Amino acid sequence: MRNDIERVLIDEAVIEKRLDSMALEIERDFPEGTLVVIILLKGALVFAADLLRRVQRPLEIECLNVASYHGGTESSGRVDFLDRNFPEVKGRHVLLLDDILDTGRTLHAVTVRLKEEGAAGVHTGVLLAKDKERAEEVDADYIGFEIGDEFVVGYGLDYKGMYRNLPYVGVLKSEAAI
Ligand code: XMP
Repeated sequence: MRNDIERVLIDEAVIEKRLDSMALEIERDFPEGTLVVIILLKGALVFAADLLRRVQRPLEIECLNVASYHGGTESSGRVDFLDRNFPEVKGRHVLLLDDILDTGRTLHAVTVRLKEEGAAGVHTGVLLAKDKERAEEVDADYIGFEIGDEFVVGYGLDYKGMYRNLPYVGVLKSEAAI
């Protein structure tokens, strides 16, 4: 698996240090009350697990399955909600976590839905944000790292379901992306 990686973009120690400071930012912004955290599966799983264990606030964890990539390296342009039920967020403060902000369609679509469902407030956090023009006007409140516009894997991010368990974020060799 590691042989398929052309270069490591962000190593484990750097990610861990950044998560410490992101957790402090979240604690500072949400001083009271219980927060509902919504983790977008599967990409944000690793990031969220490591981040949330650092957040010293009462919180409930929910997960949502959404799909926009359908397995490859290009966004399909459509965001599908795959779950039968949607978390109960009416009147609640929500922290929405995703792995990466790319076209912005996913965060936009889920944020709109959370507001329709009556969330009192929605904050968004991503491990990575690609430095590019977005299809939707959206920005995350918490961003781990800004990266260039290239396809990355590891630390929860996949290519065709693989590489999520790499402990770092890296770029795939072109011959591995087939
Ligand atoms: P959008 O375009 O909606 O993208 O902002 C968000 C979702 O697209 C996936 N994505 C990636 N997955 N490497 C990946 O493994 C990437 O470089 C990448 N860029 C976007 C991801 O699922 C994210 O939630």
